Amino acid sequence: MSVGPHDLVIRGGTVVTAADRFTADIGVTGGVITALAADLPKGAEEIDAGGLMVLPGGIDAHVHLDQPTSDGTKMADDFESGTRSAVAGGNTTVLPFVMQEKGSSLRACVEEYHRKAEGKCYTDVSFHMVVSDPSPQVLGQELPALVRDGYTSFKVFMTYDDLVLNDAELLAVFDVARREKALVMVHAEGNDAIKYMTTRLEQEGKTAPYFHAEAHAQIAEREATHRAISHAQLTDVPVVIVHVSGRDPMEQIQWARKRGMKVFAETCPQYITLTKEDLKGLNMDFEGAKYVCSPPPRDTDSQAAIWEGLRDGTFDIFASDHCPFFFDAPAETGKNNARARTSFKWVPNGIPGVETRLSILFSEGVSQGRISAERFVALTASNPARLYGLYPKKGTIAIGSDADFTLWDADRKVTISQSLLHHGADYTPYEGLQVTGWPVRTILRGQTVMQEGEISCRKPGGAYLKRGVSGMAYP
Ligand code: URP
Ligand code: ZN
Ligand code: ZN
Repeated sequence: MSVGPHDLVIRGGTVVTAADRFTADIGVTGGVITALAADLPKGAEEIDAGGLMVLPGGIDAHVHLDQPTSDGTKMADDFESGTRSAVAGGNTTVLPFVMQEKGSSLRACVEEYHRKAEGKCYTDVSFHMVVSDPSPQVLGQELPALVRDGYTSFKVFMTYDDLVLNDAELLAVFDVARREKALVMVHAEGNDAIKYMTTRLEQEGKTAPYFHAEAHAQIAEREATHRAISHAQLTDVPVVIVHVSGRDPMEQIQWARKRGMKVFAETCPQYITLTKEDLKGLNMDFEGAKYVCSPPPRDTDSQAAIWEGLRDGTFDIFASDHCPFFFDAPAETGKNNARARTSFKWVPNGIPGVETRLSILFSEGVSQGRISAERFVALTASNPARLYGLYPKKGTIAIGSDADFTLWDADRKVTISQSLLHHGADYTPYEGLQVTGWPVRTILRGQTVMQEGEISCRKPGGAYLKRGVSGMAYP
């Protein structure tokens, strides 16, 4: 049989987009989708997707890789291990953060981060920035120039002493975002409230990891979410509230939306699978540190609220907030360090999750009948692409889009275990969780990069993606 015009034909799968599902063959030429039809002629390479879903490659819009930390703790993933873990989990694009260290030029930090990523990425990547030092030079020159160069989103923190911006600084940064049509991502937890709670708990001798969840109270997240929304309303700028953990902050977002404000929202796997009880470990021991992240997981009422928000459109995106630290090994470099054992406040905040994000949402959402497969695609690929200026090159299956796919076995039952995963961390907070639905093949611009858990490309082939203005925030 003669070979047709396509480099690759993916045959007979159920194609699922955010809007539709249908059976079709997909033709790929030069890394781009060039045909969607029944009975395409034979391709140079053929993949039989019969019995599988063909989804747009996952886009994880919130990951932390090889990021400098204030106390020098090393992250468990660099670009190589983090993106390897990402493709194993069915992702083809990730968006990590350039951390501006106080006193540093933002541009210099961006360039340094490119050096760290160069030649090491199995997925395509694009960078958000973190603005921690909004000096006149940064606000007046560097930030506008970087936005125009395609770094069209940046995060600000309302907590952590080394990152927190005060209200005047938040307003000034939001104002730059409005002028430049950039998208501000907000870590909404009130710093003073957390510090007050931390001091009180420590005075009462409550220093185990569990008390991180009490110090980072939902009240502090609710208050900061409302404050961020108010600043956004005053400055007339769209914002994204990231890693929303529970009912109270979610209601603030709904309050703003009802008033017509452009407030977008992200939630994460830890808020539908974990609760603060997990931070108790085994009888309040240090195992609880494995679940320390900010905001912390809440309770079953908040889990139910998050599901309502995932269903009704309150949440636009579902990201991992992959922020991996070692637990035990190498010794004294991660969560289980000597200082952390004296108080929860020294436990590095963050948990790994880039590899398990898709299977957790699919299993708990689609397999359990809470959301449709189309909504799953919207939350994990299409909306992240639209929100962060990558659509329609990324995030959908359409003629002209990049040929990024996850071949998905909706019936595969897997028990999540550290031994299956490809990240650099020495544990997973989801150990033992049973999921139904698993990525069996990941294809990046027409090249298979993962098959049945094995990385199948010889060297990392990910590219850096320059982004446009957010199609959702500034249509
Ligand atoms: O605990 C977390 N989430 N650490 C990651 C940094 C952040 O705030 O996103
Ligand atoms: Zn954050
Ligand atoms: Zn994060």
